[in-house]
Amino acid sequence: MNSGQSSHPPVAVRAMWPDDIPDVMRIERQSFGMPWQESTFRALMRRPSASLLTAESNRTVVGFSVLWFAADEGELGDLAVDPEQRGRGIGRTLLNRSIEEARLRGARSLYLEVRESNEAARALYQTAGFETVGRRADYYSGPREDACVMRLDLQNSAR
Ligand SMILES: CC(C)(COP(=O)(O)OP(=O)(O)OC[C@H]1O[C@@H](n2cnc3c(N)ncnc32)[C@H](O)[C@@H]1OP(=O)(O)O)[C@@H](O)C(=O)NCCC(=O)NCCS
Repeated sequence: MNSGQSSHPPVAVRAMWPDDIPDVMRIERQSFGMPWQESTFRALMRRPSASLLTAESNRTVVGFSVLWFAADEGELGDLAVDPEQRGRGIGRTLLNRSIEEARLRGARSLYLEVRESNEAARALYQTAGFETVGRRADYYSGPREDACVMRLDLQNSAR
């Protein structure tokens, strides 16, 4: 896959703003069979223990990630890229910035759940150093599927 060395405009990652929500919801609905509600994003934006990041290119929202933290653990709860913009390194840029955010928050591990059949996301996470540490049976609905639980050790992985 291409990782951004083409003529595409550069991508910047910043904190999500309330004004981003319509674009975030469009991407969320295009990306998941069971999308989160807008109220979920708004509630997380008010929570100090959560970080929501927006990837912007050419003044357009092209992706986002959502993390939350408890004690010394972080959870990457959501990550998606505009379907029109995939395959150009935005997902990796967002993931790297999300990992950096987890380090800044003092997390020692970053966890996530991913559909077993989601090969693109699993490949992305694996190449970033995440390891599969468990499985949650029937975690997802629409369609029903197991989740792989993946973990990144932030203490022993390269920065
Ligand atoms: C997963 C997702 C975020 C990847 O975003 P992206 O911008 O297309 O990813 P990138 O271009 O940065 O690619 C990074 C890596 O992901 C993997 N990848 C991306 N698309 C892939 C595909 N279609 N098939 C296999 N691997 C793929 C590759 O390992 C790639 O690395 P490479 O470029 O060195 O080969 C995007 O496909 C998406 O939004 N999917 C729908 C939402 C989703 O499933 N989110 C994850 C929920 S756990």
